[in-house]
Amino acid sequence: MNKPIIALDFQTYEEVETFLANFSGESLSVKVGMELFYSNGPIIVEKIKQQNHAIFLDLKLHDIPNTVKSAMISLAKLGVDMLNVHAAGGEKMMEFAREGLEIGAGSGKRPKLIAVTQLTSTSEAAMQTEQIVKASLLESVLHYSDLTKQAGLDGVVCSALEAEEIRLQNGEDFLRVTPGIRLLSDAANDQIRVVTPEKARVIGSTNIVVGRSITQANDPVKAYNQVLKEWNV
Ligand code: C5P
Repeated sequence: MNKPIIALDFQTYEEVETFLANFSGESLSVKVGMELFYSNGPIIVEKIKQQNHAIFLDLKLHDIPNTVKSAMISLAKLGVDMLNVHAAGGEKMMEFAREGLEIGAGSGKRPKLIAVTQLTSTSEAAMQTEQIVKASLLESVLHYSDLTKQAGLDGVVCSALEAEEIRLQNGEDFLRVTPGIRLLSDAANDQIRVVTPEKARVIGSTNIVVGRSITQANDPVKAYNQVLKEWNV
């Protein structure tokens, strides 16, 4: 069973604990982002790991190659399952990030490493004017996806709507991790281009990241089971 990755977008460990208590005994796949990591520190990862959940540490590193490599050596020691960087940091930065994880993981298994192509909050118009890029948003995403693969990473974070093109270009095994997922009954909130878990599967996501549809639901377990069902039909 391929589990949806639940975005734990909370500030405090108490909120995380209350939320995870709904799923006691079940092993989940969760995403720890900047908000939670910066307000609690690495201990948050340890606490969640103790409950047997798989962790995607979503810190989106982007700095000079050496700095990212050193950061990744430290982060690998936390024993998370997946981490990410910004592809905009360049091929060398991504290679160094991967090497850092290899060093940090030692004889253990290197965590998966993926790259953010263009943020889903970036519009084509903003990309073209602010980054003075002449390409279309899709061309830019596909270019970054290629660069990510060349750097030896495992995949990208992208919109589900780009997943199929990336699969065709970079292969079945190259991860397409997609946020922007909503159940039919939900509001889209600030996500502009949203798809259901079922549609994400059909159009080529390999992993979905689901936040508010589950964390803010009246009945999070029911919402999770609905996502799980649609995602694994
Ligand atoms: O609540 P929602 O399902 O919109 O949460 C989506 C999660 O995915 C959030 O944690 C958000 O930061 C993250 N994310 C995103 N778009 C990206 C990368 C990450 O929405 N391109």
